[in-house]
Parts: sequence; structure tokens; C-alpha cells
Amino acid sequence: MADQVRDLAALLTQRLPVITDSPEGTEAVAVAIARQLTPGCVIALHGTLGAGKTVFAHGFARALGIVEPVSSPTFTLVQEYPFPGGVLYHLDLYRIDNSDAALAFGVDEFLYDPRGYALVEWPERIMDILPPNTLHLLLRPLGRSSQREISLLGQ
Ligand SMILES: Nc1ncnc2c1ncn2[C@@H]1O[C@H](COP(=O)(O)OP(=O)(O)OP(=O)(O)O)[C@@H](O)[C@H]1O
Ligand SMILES: [Mg+2]
Repeated sequence: MADQVRDLAALLTQRLPVITDSPEGTEAVAVAIARQLTPGCVIALHGTLGAGKTVFAHGFARALGIVEPVSSPTFTLVQEYPFPGGVLYHLDLYRIDNSDAALAFGVDEFLYDPRGYALVEWPERIMDILPPNTLHLLLRPLGRSSQREISLLGQ
């Protein structure tokens, strides 16, 4: 695991899980995490439909100074958001069957760009090709409320 990601994981272990009460709360958590990272990171966003993965991505983008709203890239698979110093890739692999299909559209270009941050929704589809230092986060709705638990996976 890269040192940067190991340090961050240790930090997050102290601060996560957290429970947010609103989309704004989830965005704030994303901002806090984004501030700890530098380009070259992959963040896998696990969670069911409507868990808040895209809301998280929107907050993450704001932290990088991206003002363009981040919406779901379900139909395009990837959206690119350039910012001074790098590019944010927002991937939604819901419609992708497996890593072969993802590689066929060139997913490795986004996962291994040293100038890029890659946020991956539905990372379960490509677990076998995610970089080993990928940060795995789980967003979990609590009941039917607007509460979401955000935790670090794999600790
Ligand atoms: N605490 C919360 N954090 C995030 N989103 C919340 C929260 N409470 C309510 N919501 C709502 O839940 C929805 C989350 O939608 P979002 O598109 O981010 O989910 P998603 O995980 O990306 O789903 P999909 O797998 O379909 O892409 C939004 O409508 C948002 O307003
Ligand atoms: Mg989404």
C-alpha cells in the first residue's frame, strides 16, 4: 500500500465510521477526505442504489475547486472534470458486467493516471483490476431516514 494511502487509512480509521444526516453532511465528509489526498488516488465508493455515492463525488469535486455539478455518469460510464493540477474521473460502472468489459472501454487509463483522482461507483464490477492502494469506502443508508453511515472497508 502506498504510504499516502496507508497514512490516510490510519487517519480515517480514527474518524470513520461517521453518520451524516443530509446530502450536505455527506459532501462535507467527502471534502474532508479529498483534502487529505493528492492526485493518483482511486476511491472505490461502495453502496446500494441511492446510498449517496454521487453526492459524495459532488462534494469531492467541490474540494478540488470544480464548480461544474457532478451528476451521475451512468450512461457515459465516465465523466472527466479537469481542474488546475489534474483531473477528476467519475466512473459509474453499474452497467458494466466485469473487468474485461471495463478494460475494453479503457478504464485503466483513468485508474492509473498519476494526475488523476478516480472515484468509482459500483467498484464491485472491477475488483480484480483496481490498484492495490485503492481506498474503499462504504456508504450505507440507515433505515429509511436520510442518515448515511460512511465507513472505511478492509480494515
Ligand atoms: N445523508 C445523505 N447523504 C447522501 N445522500 C442523501 C442523504 N440523505 C438523503 N440523501 C439523498 O439520497 C440520494 C443519494 O443519491 P445518489 O445519486 O448520490 O446515490 P448513488 O449512491 O450515487 O446511487 P446510484 O447507485 O443509483 O448511482 C439523493 O437523492 C440525496 O439527496
Ligand atoms: Mg450514483
